[in-house]
Amino acid sequence: MLEEVEALIEDFVQEVDAEAAKLYQSFAKGKMLRAKLVLKIAGKSKESIKLAAVIEMIHAASLLHDDVIDESDTRRGVDSINALYGDKTAIMLGDILYSKGFLELVSYEKEIAEAISDAVVQLSVGEMMDVTLSDSINYNADKYFEMIYKKTAVLIEATSKCSAILSQKESVAFALYGKNLGLAFQIIDDVLDITSSDEELGKPALADFKEGKTTLPFIYLFESLQNDDRKKLISLYKKELNVDNKLWIKTKMRESGAVFRCIELAKELGEEALEAIKNYKNSDLERIITQMIERDY
Ligand code: FPP
Ligand code: MG
Repeated sequence: MLEEVEALIEDFVQEVDAEAAKLYQSFAKGKMLRAKLVLKIAGKSKESIKLAAVIEMIHAASLLHDDVIDESDTRRGVDSINALYGDKTAIMLGDILYSKGFLELVSYEKEIAEAISDAVVQLSVGEMMDVTLSDSINYNADKYFEMIYKKTAVLIEATSKCSAILSQKESVAFALYGKNLGLAFQIIDDVLDITSSDEELGKPALADFKEGKTTLPFIYLFESLQNDDRKKLISLYKKELNVDNKLWIKTKMRESGAVFRCIELAKELGEEALEAIKNYKNSDLERIITQMIERDY
């Protein structure tokens, strides 16, 4: 079913411009979590496949722009579009993907078109928050949660909500499922930056702190460290980390329980997500939660 979504995206981009369609071939395809959610919640129909395509196009556009903003050379284990063809091309391909996505979105009922549009506004604010928070060390977990809610969870929340609307299910319950799934997803992503290898991640590991991002495991680690260790961690902020520094951070993350605390929180959010849709007994949606928490990349 996901192949049909991917084929429709390719058709949509081809409709706009053949050159853009060729470029899109070099964009690394991911797990298509959002498309999977649409199809598992709304079932397979012409409308659901198109909604899945629209959301994946917007998501792809946000990643193309994000790689330019983050100056990231790799995406999903291969060269990013900005690394291959430069920043301008990556931005323009992103523009084509999201504007065509919006053009297709207007064919849906107002509640759906509005929910997705509003999510993309918040997504943009979330990215801005992420960049601003990266200016200096952030010790405030609430700011982190607000940022990841906007940057990541909002679009997954809107995806679940709109899929429920499309298939006459309870939109509030599915929105809550999506919100908690999205929050847990980003927390696990931030844990994997610390616990995984470059190969597993398909991008350099332990990159967040060097890039100025004080993710939740780092906020929890700061909370638990005493004077000297705390000073040492502050001294490593935004620095290129050598092998010893990396080992020190990984060890402290484990010993302090910071990583464990994050994983426990992600599990709780996963349980809350499933609680929200318990009336629907959907084993596919249960599996999405467990796979997301247990993944190692
Ligand atoms: C990846 O986060 C980035 C996002 C989830 C959101 C990016 C949003 C924008 C650039 C706003 C613009 C939106 C559109 C539609 C053009 P990350 O950097 O933490 O993760 P990564 O390691 O996968 O890059
Ligand atoms: Mg990024």
